[in-house]
Amino acid sequence: MTMQQLLNIELPVIQAPMAGVQGSDLAIAVSNAGGLGSLPCAMLSPDALRAELEKIRRGTDRPFNVNFFCHTPPEPDPQADADWQALLRPYYTELAIDPSTIASGAGRTPFNAEALEVLKEFEPAVVSFHFGLPAPELLDGVRSWGAKILSSATTLEEALWLQSQGVDGVIAQGLEAGGHRGIFLTRDMTTQMGTFALTRQLVAALNLPVIAAGGIADAAGVQAAMALGAAGVQVGTAYLLCPEASTSAIHREVLASEAARHTALTNLFSGGPARGVVNRLMRELGPVNALSPAFPLATAAIAPLRAAAEAQGSGDFSPLWAGQNTRGCKPVAAAQLTRELASALD
Ligand SMILES: Cc1cc2nc3c(=O)[nH]c(=O)nc-3n(C[C@H](O)[C@H](O)[C@H](O)COP(=O)(O)O)c2cc1C
Repeated sequence: MTMQQLLNIELPVIQAPMAGVQGSDLAIAVSNAGGLGSLPCAMLSPDALRAELEKIRRGTDRPFNVNFFCHTPPEPDPQADADWQALLRPYYTELAIDPSTIASGAGRTPFNAEALEVLKEFEPAVVSFHFGLPAPELLDGVRSWGAKILSSATTLEEALWLQSQGVDGVIAQGLEAGGHRGIFLTRDMTTQMGTFALTRQLVAALNLPVIAAGGIADAAGVQAAMALGAAGVQVGTAYLLCPEASTSAIHREVLASEAARHTALTNLFSGGPARGVVNRLMRELGPVNALSPAFPLATAAIAPLRAAAEAQGSGDFSPLWAGQNTRGCKPVAAAQLTRELASALD
């Protein structure tokens, strides 16, 4: 089955959900252009989720995707928090931040019954997950209105597990991809592989549409993914400079600069491995630091550093999420980019 048939869309292009850098505006623009727009919901309260879904309902009558994280929240660990803050202390001093004012808390909530209740009011056509799947009763709730369910896999084992749970399609998230890795069955980063290798193996092993993601940023990349047997693509980084995205001015500036040629996986900003442009914090602490607490608990201690630095026009402490291929980042309307991405297909 083609992805267009599965998702009832014209073009085999999913705009990747990207928490923190976009909301309903980007999703509406892409869905109206014939792709599948996505709303990232990992950082939305139930009220904010409802408000965004109302905007999408007013903005398009086409299918769209809502995306949730479904990690298991870690137990609070005061010692780990204290060790993490101790490592960051020189930066608090430099930026005149009083560490006793640092809020605790996760910042990202996994999919839950409250979010499901909001979704039931809107019955979105597609729901995608990152970090596996929610509990079976929650997943059944999503299935109740016939939503198609997608989730990211970073290994063949994850893809086979998702297939066994009855998902409708699997997103093959290669190592090139920007943002958080959807890895969920292991913590062993040596298992992670590039989009070419992963897509090909998933296509061979699954009876489901495989959606290639990671490093795809132009029409030739889309064509190549389809030649590998992908039913469609999920593209994130290339949309970051679109006017409909809410990417910060600092993030946009970095993406348009030569600095964007160097990305790395880092656990400094949330605790989980994610790809972003290498910046000062990543250089000085190492992109992967053993003292960073479990996902998503690293975020709270970084937040005031990020805010203070950004107020001075600096991205030294910001997560500058981006994939390895930032060549496709262009300040063009999302509809134009969506059509361009699909332009080499018959
Ligand atoms: C800024 C940014 C934020 C992201 N946030 C999410 C998210 O909230 N949920 C999700 O499933 N994937 C997220 N991703 C990962 C994408 O789904 C996708 O795997 C990735 O963008 C594909 O690689 P590319 O960026 O090279 O196109 C994010 C990616 C980026 C670049």
